[in-house]
Amino acid sequence: MAEGVASTSLYERAEHAARTIRARLTTEPRIAIVLGSGLGGFADDFEEPVRIPYNEIPGFPRSTVEGHTGRLVAGKVDSVPVLAMQGRVHFYEGYSLEEVTFPIRTFKLLGLKTLILTNAAGGINVQLTQGALMVISDHVNLMGDNPLRGPNDDRFGPRFPDMSTVYSPALQELVVEEAKAIGAEVRRGIYGGLSGPSYETPAEIHLLRNLGADAVGMSTVPEAIVARHMDLEVLGISCITNMAAGISDEPIDHAEVMATGDRVRGTFTELLRGVVARINSRV
Ligand code: HPA
Repeated sequence: MAEGVASTSLYERAEHAARTIRARLTTEPRIAIVLGSGLGGFADDFEEPVRIPYNEIPGFPRSTVEGHTGRLVAGKVDSVPVLAMQGRVHFYEGYSLEEVTFPIRTFKLLGLKTLILTNAAGGINVQLTQGALMVISDHVNLMGDNPLRGPNDDRFGPRFPDMSTVYSPALQELVVEEAKAIGAEVRRGIYGGLSGPSYETPAEIHLLRNLGADAVGMSTVPEAIVARHMDLEVLGISCITNMAAGISDEPIDHAEVMATGDRVRGTFTELLRGVVARINSRV
């Protein structure tokens, strides 16, 4: 059968994508990083970069949003091999959650062990100010869908995967320690994932606050669920690019979200570099 046709299984399509990527890699990365809105610049500094546009990888979805470059960048961060997504696709673009999480399936088949998910998010907890970084301790899936809905392929993971510990406590601790070491402020918090694309109303943010969410965004949750389904180790870091609706009186604007991402680039990069080094040197 021709490759890439819809009747092949998700697993086979992910294998095909993984083979295509592996053929171009010069390293064997264990750490994958998904770079969120305004945070893609991190991959621009990789040593020995290999860049693969998503449209050259069979089955990879293409981002339709400004500020989300669509390519994989493999390379080294202080000699540690990593694989990064410069830009991701979102549920709000019209993709199914299976499509949104297809790259994560591929990463597992490529042999990656640890997934670092980053995103831009609105701050709900008032202790999180604009430009702050939040380590995700847990999430609330309010997207109205689940990436595991549909037939389960046991080669990936179980039908009913446990979600008691989605975000590795050891990795959370490691981020907090690295932040201390470089004098950056991070706090742990719960990420509420909504479908978007409209930003929330103040009433919705009020509701989210009462549900226990510290920050809100439109990504990360599906990727984290799929990663845990396959037993990848997950770390989540949110960049608080704006205060959520009604927390501040300011209207929310995508350009501001991107600009804040750019402003924290230095701290974000330094933190992530340190985190990659610490993950790599764990025994
Ligand atoms: N809401 C949802 N998603 C976001 C926000 C927000 O305020 N800021 C950045 N991504």
